[in-house]
Amino acid sequence: MWLLTALLLWGKLDPAKAVITLQPPWVNIFQEEHVTLRCEGPHLPGNTSTQWFLNGTAIQTLTPRHRIAAASVNDSGEYRCQTGFSVPSDPVQLEVHRDWLLLQVSSRVITEGEPLTLRCHGWNNKLVYNVLFYQNGKVLKFSIQNSEFTILKTNLSHNGIYHCSGMGKQRFESAGVPITVKELFPAPVLKASLSSPILEGQLVNLSCETKLLLERPGLRLYFSFYMGSKTLLSRNTSSEYQIQTAEREDSGLYWCEATTEDGNVIKRSPELELQVLGLQIQTRVWFHVLFYMVVGMLFLVDTIFCMIIYKELPRKKKWNLEISLDSGHEKRVNSYLQKERTYQQPLKGGQ
Ligand SMILES: *[C@@H]1O[C@H](CO)[C@@H](O)[C@H](O)[C@H]1NC(C)=O
Ligand SMILES: *[C@@H]1O[C@H](CO)[C@@H](O)[C@H](O)[C@H]1NC(C)=O
Ligand SMILES: *[C@@H]1O[C@H](CO)[C@@H](O)[C@H](O)[C@H]1NC(C)=O
Ligand SMILES: *[C@@H]1O[C@H](CO)[C@@H](O)[C@H](O)[C@H]1NC(C)=O
Ligand SMILES: *[C@@H]1O[C@H](CO)[C@@H](O)[C@H](O)[C@H]1NC(C)=O
Ligand SMILES: *[C@@H]1O[C@H](CO)[C@@H](O)[C@H](O)[C@H]1NC(C)=O
Repeated sequence: MWLLTALLLWGKLDPAKAVITLQPPWVNIFQEEHVTLRCEGPHLPGNTSTQWFLNGTAIQTLTPRHRIAAASVNDSGEYRCQTGFSVPSDPVQLEVHRDWLLLQVSSRVITEGEPLTLRCHGWNNKLVYNVLFYQNGKVLKFSIQNSEFTILKTNLSHNGIYHCSGMGKQRFESAGVPITVKELFPAPVLKASLSSPILEGQLVNLSCETKLLLERPGLRLYFSFYMGSKTLLSRNTSSEYQIQTAEREDSGLYWCEATTEDGNVIKRSPELELQVLGLQIQTRVWFHVLFYMVVGMLFLVDTIFCMIIYKELPRKKKWNLEISLDSGHEKRVNSYLQKERTYQQPLKGGQ
């Protein structure tokens, strides 16, 4: 005993919170109905007594069960309990009503991911059928035979005022019951230590950022990282993922997911685009630049040559004509004539 007290004083042990559960589970009931409140929490050795509080004042019950056999308006109120080695439980607000129809709920304040059960209950267990459940005035569910309706995993969209209507001797409508769904953590945001585009070979830290909004003993978040449809890291307690040496294949759309251990709350981040520029791309760029420079030079040289040739061309043409005009026949004729003359001359001379 003194050991426990000492540990408590030193803060080495966190006493758990006691928890109240109801049987049947409804936090709102009709008069004359029964309900049993049960308190769960650790006890001290040799002392199993449980303390109950209604509206902050202790009531006589000292057992782990507080039974209300026939509820009266005086049983309405805020219940808490505490065992020897626990801190007081969260409150349970019990309401005792007088009406024809009652929308019974398993809880008025819940954390997202937890279930919520609704029941459309007639006074004195009168049969009700063709039941409609409403959320904020809009029909949520229709049930021919009056059955309970459970939302297995609530989310923030389940906030609102609920009521029901159903047929008995006539159509009855219940009063509204406000339901509050508390957010456990906001959707994460994926952040990178470097902004895109990233150069090949660099180290990139990705972090999946969110924060718990509610304190829960033992509550932990698990993180998963994805690129497109590929899983990079699945359900790790670390909210970080490292790309050791970025490669061009690491380019793509990244996103992450944060979940509770039981997977009842799963939230994903918006996508983050990462582009990794390869060194190959850079060399290819240089190759292109060089290639176009060489082609450009060749073109320049070509043009200069063309211009020179174009300037030279008219002169060469004249020359060619001259050759063909004065050389060719005439020359040959002349030479023939000359030859004839030279032949003739000796002949003449010989005559
Ligand atoms: C409720 O409590 C008041 C006093 O606080 C008492 O006068 C009344 O009779 C009680 N009603 C019932 C039904 O027990
Ligand atoms: C407890 O407080 C509520 C209002 O918060 C009141 O309606 C109810 O009658 C109280 N119950 C008792 C037993 O005093
Ligand atoms: C048992 O614990 C309760 C508190 O939960 C305390 O009030 C009570 O005095 C304790 N009884 C004994 C015998 O220690
Ligand atoms: C909330 O849960 C309902 C199903 O009960 C689902 O259709 C809806 O998409 C969920 N909303 C969000 C924001 O997750
Ligand atoms: C990335 O994370 C590691 C360890 O988590 C840290 O040592 C390093 O400094 C981080 N680098 C950058 C660029 O944030
Ligand atoms: C979480 O990831 C780290 C490295 O990123 C790894 O060493 C560790 O084993 C992982 N834990 C689980 C539970 O997968």
